[in-house]
Amino acid sequence: MKTVHIDASAPYDVLIESGLLDELGPRVAAISGIRKVLLVSDDTVNALYGNRAADSLRQAGISVDTFVFPHGEAFKNLEVYGELLEKALTAGITRTDAFVALGGGVVGDLTGFAAATFKRGIRFIQVPTTLLASVDASVGGKTAVDLPGGKNQVGAFHQPALVLCDPCTLETLPEEQFLSGCGEVIKYGLLAGGELFEILKACEGPAGLKADIENVIARCVELKRDYVQADEFDTGVRMLLNLGHTFGHAAEVLSGYKLTHGGAVAAGMAVVTRAAVKRGYCRPETLGQLLSQLERFDLPASLPYRAAELLPVIRGDKKAAGGNINLIVPEAQGRVRVLSTAIPELEGWLRDGGAE
Ligand SMILES: NC(=O)c1ccc[n+]([C@@H]2O[C@H](COP(=O)([O-])OP(=O)(O)OC[C@H]3O[C@@H](n4cnc5c(N)ncnc54)[C@H](O)[C@@H]3O)[C@@H](O)[C@H]2O)c1
Repeated sequence: MKTVHIDASAPYDVLIESGLLDELGPRVAAISGIRKVLLVSDDTVNALYGNRAADSLRQAGISVDTFVFPHGEAFKNLEVYGELLEKALTAGITRTDAFVALGGGVVGDLTGFAAATFKRGIRFIQVPTTLLASVDASVGGKTAVDLPGGKNQVGAFHQPALVLCDPCTLETLPEEQFLSGCGEVIKYGLLAGGELFEILKACEGPAGLKADIENVIARCVELKRDYVQADEFDTGVRMLLNLGHTFGHAAEVLSGYKLTHGGAVAAGMAVVTRAAVKRGYCRPETLGQLLSQLERFDLPASLPYRAAELLPVIRGDKKAAGGNINLIVPEAQGRVRVLSTAIPELEGWLRDGGAE
């Protein structure tokens, strides 16, 4: 088993091993005081893994209630959040009990935010079942729900008490969702360079990555750990993790979330890197390496929207402040910089990146 310890304000372990889902009960029971949990999942994941998770918890002497909501970003909202809290109250969850988030980033973000606020904060356990949640969303304590006017607009920093990652659950993940996670893995490769970049190169594509999945997840979590430990509350170096997000996120919103998160990030990285090469910030070979990786993982290298469509959405991005946004710009594999950029200037960046 691979264990990554996260030394945040509330420290915890990320455990990664195939078959670990069946150990959920004993692992949760080992966290002091937890007698009862609310197991939260979406309908798809619940049908696949809900019973196994609940059985393991009950066999370990933990009482289990469940809250299941429809899958998809559209349900990461205040209404479902309210229903979850009502369910926790009627189930008799106390301040020493916990929520368990079994699912992808949508389940994790919603459950984490509910845990951050229920009775002024209770513990929660992340059990990620998508690659994106395994390498990114389940670690680091960012929790949120969406408002009709914007994604992740209501949230809190609240670290999980444990992250239990069983890569076997990824076997049922639709290929498009697996590739979405690969987009985030490629982002880490570009950010960190070095070993992860070499591992990704050696994988040659999704099949190779699946064969080395525990190792890849652990390497990504270690990288995220470094950013979280250095800047838990996202005021400095952690913002580098937004590489590809400024443009990618705007495209995701315009698509009504039909584009996957990782796919949009992949295209956003390609656009910003292409523009960075044109403007003399980035080495051309870095762009070449990124584009060939995206191709091998069947990920997009351009955005399906024009600059004029993307800009108004970027203006509403919660990371935009005082008319500026911090654009994360690659210089080389393993070297990125933050460029505080006036929002109107982004039009030139988008055009240089290929988004006419
Ligand atoms: N908190 C963070 O730091 C952070 C970081 C990145 C992304 N996010 C958030 O994560 C969300 C995206 O997460 P996601 O990509 O995991 O999406 P998701 O949670 O919507 O899952 C994608 C789809 O896969 C299904 N699914 C999940 N696990 C499955 C499995 N094992 N087998 C079959 N189907 C399965 C789900 O039901 C869903 O339909 C976004 O809301 C994003 O804002 C949060």
